[in-house]
Amino acid sequence: MPDVSWALGRAAELAERGPQHGGNPRVGCVLLATDGAVVSEGWHRGAGTAHAEAAALAGADPGRLRGATAVVTLEPCHHSGRTPPCTRALHAAGVARVVYAVGDPDPVAAGGARWLATRGVEVLTAEDAGVPADVSGRAADLTAAWASAVRRRRPWVVGKTALSLDGRVAAADGTSRWITGAAARNHAHTVRADVDAVVVGTGTVLADDPALTARRPDGTLAEHQPLRVVVGRRAVPPQAALRQAPGDWLHLPTRDLRTALDRLWDAGARRVLVEGGPSLLSGALREHLVDELHAYLAPVLLGAGLPAVADLGVPTLADAPRWRPVTTRTLGEDLLVVAHRPQGDL
Ligand SMILES: NC(=O)c1ccc[n+]([C@@H]2O[C@H](COP(=O)([O-])OP(=O)(O)OC[C@H]3O[C@@H](n4cnc5c(N)ncnc54)[C@H](OP(=O)(O)O)[C@@H]3O)[C@@H](O)[C@H]2O)c1
Repeated sequence: MPDVSWALGRAAELAERGPQHGGNPRVGCVLLATDGAVVSEGWHRGAGTAHAEAAALAGADPGRLRGATAVVTLEPCHHSGRTPPCTRALHAAGVARVVYAVGDPDPVAAGGARWLATRGVEVLTAEDAGVPADVSGRAADLTAAWASAVRRRRPWVVGKTALSLDGRVAAADGTSRWITGAAARNHAHTVRADVDAVVVGTGTVLADDPALTARRPDGTLAEHQPLRVVVGRRAVPPQAALRQAPGDWLHLPTRDLRTALDRLWDAGARRVLVEGGPSLLSGALREHLVDELHAYLAPVLLGAGLPAVADLGVPTLADAPRWRPVTTRTLGEDLLVVAHRPQGDL
């Protein structure tokens, strides 16, 4: 068989170029000819654009597709949404074999592997095709957050905090701008630009009056703007900056975060960034609603002021939830720690 392990690694690399906002998973595809040569490759560039398989097929010489192997990070979809089913396109092109890393968790789009197999296409999971676990694991990781959201029918929640070395997000007088440096703040803007919604509590709106837009380092607006969401019963002032910025914003006058997330799911949000402040983030943590934590740690000591997180009801150290570190990264003088929650459905 052509080198599907290499091809799956490459497909994962391609998939990473796609956006995480917009409701669709990041998917990559490599088409291999019968002799193992790469015929074409593609990735999904976001909702409404061609799926990875269709993008790869579009760039291929049709004469080299007969008997080809399609290596995909996600099971080919089998439904007509904004684009036609990839299964039919692969079959019609003469693809003889499909290798995929993970099954489609979306009941609407699933069933592609079975449909192809009944048409005589050899369909293998990466594991069955002998792909090493680290390669297939990387491909699976790309869709893990999206797949979890789809299975739970609740957005994947990224919690963000920018804190001092002693765990505070504002000084004794309430000042919090800026705890972290420019590199960390620029990074946080790239995260905003890759989610469907950014959520803050009314406390942050009243204290900081943030615009909540995703901006480039030069201050211009990023191409994708998330929905700006304020949660809490107090009113959003008429002159609030987030009202003036371009794009949509929403006030959810509630403290019930599950209901708030349901509303965002219904609005199409699959990936949501909860930027704080500490009361909202603590509420979300207490209810186990945060899936991924981004902690920007700055080398500054405050000694007093607002703690990043309030009481979580942890009685003793042995009972403290230990998060699973995913990455650590230096950003200027600051450190970004990304961790996933320890329990539950990831
Ligand atoms: N460094 C950072 O990363 C960072 C980020 C954001 C903010 N901050 C700082 O944090 C301070 C504001 O703190 P904060 O805690 O008041 O802000 P917050 O968490 O943004 O707002 C708190 C408000 O959120 C609403 N809320 C909705 N659902 C909630 C829930 N389940 N649990 C708790 N509250 C809920 C409540 O509003 P209602 O009373 O209206 O119902 C509550 O009073 C400011 O000084 C700001 O600069 C720092």
